[in-house]
This record gives sequence, structure tokens and C-alpha cells, in this order.
Amino acid sequence: MARRCLAAAAALAVLLMVVGQAYAGDAEAALADFLSPPDNFTVPNIVLVSLDGALMEETWVSGFDNLINTVTGRNPNGCRIPMTWFVSKQGRDQGKCEVAQRILRLGHEFSTHSVSHSEDILTFPYDQLVDDIEGVRTWLNESCGIPASEILGYRAPRFYVNDITGRALYELGYLYDSSLPDPDFNVRPGLWSEGVELVCNTPFRQCPTWNQYPVWEVPVYRLSGADKRTDPLPSEGMSIFQRLQADYVRKKGLGVPVVIATHSNYLLNTTNTAEVIKFLDWAMEEPGTWVVTYQQYIAWLQSEPGTQMDEIMARYPCDEGGDPTDEVAASWKDDDSGSSGANGGGSDGEGGGGEGDGKGSSSPEPSPSPEEDSPSPEPES
Ligand SMILES: *[C@@H]1O[C@H](CO)[C@@H](O)[C@H](O)[C@H]1NC(C)=O
Ligand SMILES: *[C@@H]1O[C@H](CO)[C@@H](O)[C@H](O)[C@H]1NC(C)=O
Ligand SMILES: *[C@@H]1O[C@H](CO)[C@@H](O)[C@H](O)[C@H]1NC(C)=O
Repeated sequence: MARRCLAAAAALAVLLMVVGQAYAGDAEAALADFLSPPDNFTVPNIVLVSLDGALMEETWVSGFDNLINTVTGRNPNGCRIPMTWFVSKQGRDQGKCEVAQRILRLGHEFSTHSVSHSEDILTFPYDQLVDDIEGVRTWLNESCGIPASEILGYRAPRFYVNDITGRALYELGYLYDSSLPDPDFNVRPGLWSEGVELVCNTPFRQCPTWNQYPVWEVPVYRLSGADKRTDPLPSEGMSIFQRLQADYVRKKGLGVPVVIATHSNYLLNTTNTAEVIKFLDWAMEEPGTWVVTYQQYIAWLQSEPGTQMDEIMARYPCDEGGDPTDEVAASWKDDDSGSSGANGGGSDGEGGGGEGDGKGSSSPEPSPSPEEDSPSPEPES
């Protein structure tokens, strides 16, 4: 309760700064106008697209070929949309540096998703947890040549976090976590230490002391309708497109992102991908819509009120198009040695929504063969 008040107070303080003198002393009017901003107050409509999993061939095909490269809409600066890749090293071949390097050149973002993607991560002692989180960054940096300084986010496997997760992220210098659900669809992300409401009230999500650390929480926002937080499916009579569109409409002008969090297997289903693409192409026809990485979004949140998204995006590489697929495909041919599924471990079932309905929660990360998928939804309500 206290936190909710703090968050509300912080939001109002921002509002008053933003809308200025006109509303001083009239918080209600300020709030009303914030929710329905005047034309001259331009808040971008933000969409965050992410893919969780090991960087394998099918990850690239599903995330880039099937999705990013098939979207025809462009950001308002003319660049192809970027995506954030939450990388684990689980799987057949533990990930390919060719894929990582190609992604780097496109200006996408890498974030970490733990090496092991273990369902037992909550039992790890601190040092083991640190190694498990940091191992992804170390691999991307030392083996694949990705600047470590650009890997600043974390998403917990299965969204499982506890107290030491917060301490580890802070001490490892991470900028943000994206593992918790949203308190409500209209609440902006914020710093743990500045009273942003952290929704971590289940046995698998605990964070009693995180509020001492200046780390951002970018929640994995839920769409309306009972469903898990990743890999949106049709629900309550609405198609995937309609659900995403409804979320976009209710967030318009709030500076709160539509979150499309996916896994490879979800995007390999062409029905799903077509719906997501339909939404992205629709959204990018709407004025002031930007599909950005998590870091780009946080950079906007950190900027002076009124800062336009083009100013932020000018700091980042622009993917002007072209088709990098052939180059990557060629690199796979080099080691197509049929290294088969020794280390599948593909179960994921990141049933993060926690709605507890236990259905439709199969969202495995890339795994060598379907029979190794063992969906296990987050066992909480
Ligand atoms: C928006 O326009 C109104 C009316 O023209 C004006 O009073 C207000 O100062 C403007 N706000 C901003 C942030 O420019
Ligand atoms: C590792 O990251 C650091 C810091 O970003 C960077 O300076 C260095 O070049 C990276 N190492 C490799 C091998 O790319
Ligand atoms: C693809 O996903 C849809 C749900 O969006 C599902 O109904 C369909 O069975 C899936 N297709 C395959 C081949 O798995």
C-alpha cells in the first residue's frame, strides 16, 4: 500500500513537472490530462519485442527471418525495428557466435537470461547465481566479441527471483531487470530504489530488499485476458492481433510499453508470427510509434520530460535494411555436423502470467526435438 502511494506520488510529481504551471495545485486535472494528453504533448507509443533463449539457428530464423525481417513497417526514423534477445546458453550447441555477431551489427540488444536456465535457480547460493547470470555476458563478450558494457539487462528463467537475485544484479552492475509482472497496465517502469511497485509476492518471486538498489524494473506487462506473460495466444474471443491492439490503445499516451515477449518455438508457428507482424505493421502506421530495445526505452524514461524518441534513437545504430540472412546461413553450413541433442534440456514453460490456469502455457525455448519439451507453468496463482 505504502509503495503504491509512493509510486503514485512519484508519478504525480513527474506529471506536474511535465505539464507545468498550468496545473500546479490541481493534481486531478493533471492526471486527467496525462491520461488524455493534449496534442502538443507528444509521448511516444512504445513497443518492446523480445525473444528469450539460446542463440541457435532456429532462434535466428524465428526471431529475425520470420519476424523482424518480415515486418514491413519502419520506425519513424526509417530504421528497421530492433529486438532484445534475452540469451541463455542452454541447448544443443549452447549458442552460436555467428548469430550473436549478426545481431550486434543490426543494433539489437543483448540481455542475459542465465546460463543454465535452471528450474532450481532459487536454490543457488549467491556465488553460483552470480556465475549463472554473468556467464552469459562473459560468453558473449569473450567468445563472441560483444561489448560487455552493452549487456545490461536480466530476465530470470521462468521469472523465478529471490532476494539475492536483486543483490547479484546490483553488484554485477546491471541496469535493469525484466522478470516481474506489472502492478497495473498503466504503471511506468521505475527504479527499485525510487519506490516503483515490485510485484513479487509468491514463493517463486520474492524481493523484500530490492528497494535499496538503484536498478530499473521493466515489468513483463500482461495483456488483458487470462494468459501467461510470454507468447501471447488468442484469449477471450480475441485474436493475438486484437489483444495486442487493445493493449496498445489502452496505453496510448502513457509512455508505458506494449510488451511482446516471445520464444523461438512460438515464432516458428507461422500463425502466431503472422498475427504479431500484423500488429506491428498496424502500430507503426500510428503516429509516434516506436519499436525499441529495452535500453532505448529506459534511455527515454531517463531523459528530460518532453524528449522526443528520435533524439534517443540517434545515439544507436540504424538498421537500414538489406538481408543479412544469407551471410548467417552460410556460417551454419560450415559446422552442420549434426551435433544432435545431447543437451536438450529444452523445458521452459515460462508460464509467467501466473494466472494459474495451467493451460496454454507451453512456451519452450528452442529445444532439439519437440518430445523433450515439458511445459511446466509457473506453479503459482
Ligand atoms: C500545449 O498547448 C496549450 C494551448 O495552446 C498551451 O497552453 C500549453 O502550454 C502547451 N503545452 C506544452 C507542453 O507545450
Ligand atoms: C569485452 O567488453 C569490453 C567492454 O565493453 C570491450 O572493451 C572488449 O573489447 C570486449 N571484448 C571482446 C573480446 O570483444
Ligand atoms: C500455432 O498456434 C496456434 C495458436 O495461435 C495454434 O492454434 C496452432 O495449433 C499452432 N500450430 C501448430 C502447427 O502448432
